[in-house]
Amino acid sequence: MSGSCSSSCSSASTCGTKEAQQAQAAQQENAISRSLGKIKHKILVMSGKGGVGKSTVSVNLALALANNGHKVGLMDVDLHGPDVVRMLNLQGTLQPSATPDGLIAPLQYNDNLKVVSLEYMMKDRDEAVIWRGPLKMQAIRQFVGDMDWGNLDYLIIDAPPGTGDEPLTVAQIIPLVKAVVVTTPQQVALADVRKSIRFCKAVKMEIVGVVENMSGLVCPHCHEVVEVFKSGGGEKTARDFDLPFLGRIPLDPQVVSGSDDGVPYLASGADSPAAQAFANVVKAIELRLPPGKPSGPLPMAGCPCASV
Ligand SMILES: Nc1ncnc2c1ncn2[C@@H]1O[C@H](COP(=O)(O)OP(=O)(O)O)[C@@H](O)[C@H]1O
Ligand SMILES: [Mg+2]
Ligand SMILES: [Zn+2]
Repeated sequence: MSGSCSSSCSSASTCGTKEAQQAQAAQQENAISRSLGKIKHKILVMSGKGGVGKSTVSVNLALALANNGHKVGLMDVDLHGPDVVRMLNLQGTLQPSATPDGLIAPLQYNDNLKVVSLEYMMKDRDEAVIWRGPLKMQAIRQFVGDMDWGNLDYLIIDAPPGTGDEPLTVAQIIPLVKAVVVTTPQQVALADVRKSIRFCKAVKMEIVGVVENMSGLVCPHCHEVVEVFKSGGGEKTARDFDLPFLGRIPLDPQVVSGSDDGVPYLASGADSPAAQAFANVVKAIELRLPPGKPSGPLPMAGCPCASV
């Protein structure tokens, strides 16, 4: 992706002048609003720490919603670790193509799931690591404004850990985006998750709820869940902040092999406590953000669906 002139810029002589830049920015603003107008629910998957399974949750959530018959987009804005394309085994199809109206067609994973990753837009993957704030923001704006997402029930956004440029840009350019916060049961992750929750409050992003991933281990022999770390911390944190708890997903060795092989866990026909746990988390999210309804404020605490 080039950080300079977009293909929509028609005047070479004025390109780079303040007026041309303003006109381009206004045009992009319109494109972003038009694109977002067709998307019912926008979900930013966040975590305080890396390695807690945020991309795994994003990919499997997107896939499960698509399997449930909804139209879903999956946007990977983790510019430093764009894993989504690998997890879905889409590496061979990294050729962006233009639609007749000048937009870029996202990758099509299946009839219901479209995917965009920085990796898809970049010639050289290593480019991303040197990207600084403004360039990252521009990339994310293009992911929304220049993509032909069409009508979607859900757009799932996988952001890098923490509260840096990417989640901030998403919160700023996507009105009504809501956060799903992923954590693990350990204390460090929990301290970080509090920071994420405070960030959401500071930027006025509503939180759909908290997911506790890697909570217990699915025994490969008897398939029972064994407690490894003290679990329940995610639920407690959710309660402390008066947030819905969306569920616990145990560690399951099959999840790792699935994402390494490009076959996401929920596409592998897995039938285990982890698959059931993922399904419950998805159900909780569908209940809080019903696919048929446009995005609005979340239900008040006290509604049955606020305490899933
Ligand atoms: N519930 C789980 N059980 C087993 N492995 C998991 C689970 N969730 C995630 N993983 C594995 O943990 C690693 C980190 O997950 P990833 O989704 O890349 O984290 P993040 O995006 O938060 O950095 C990956 O190898 C992934 O397959
Ligand atoms: Mg990730
Ligand atoms: Zn066992």
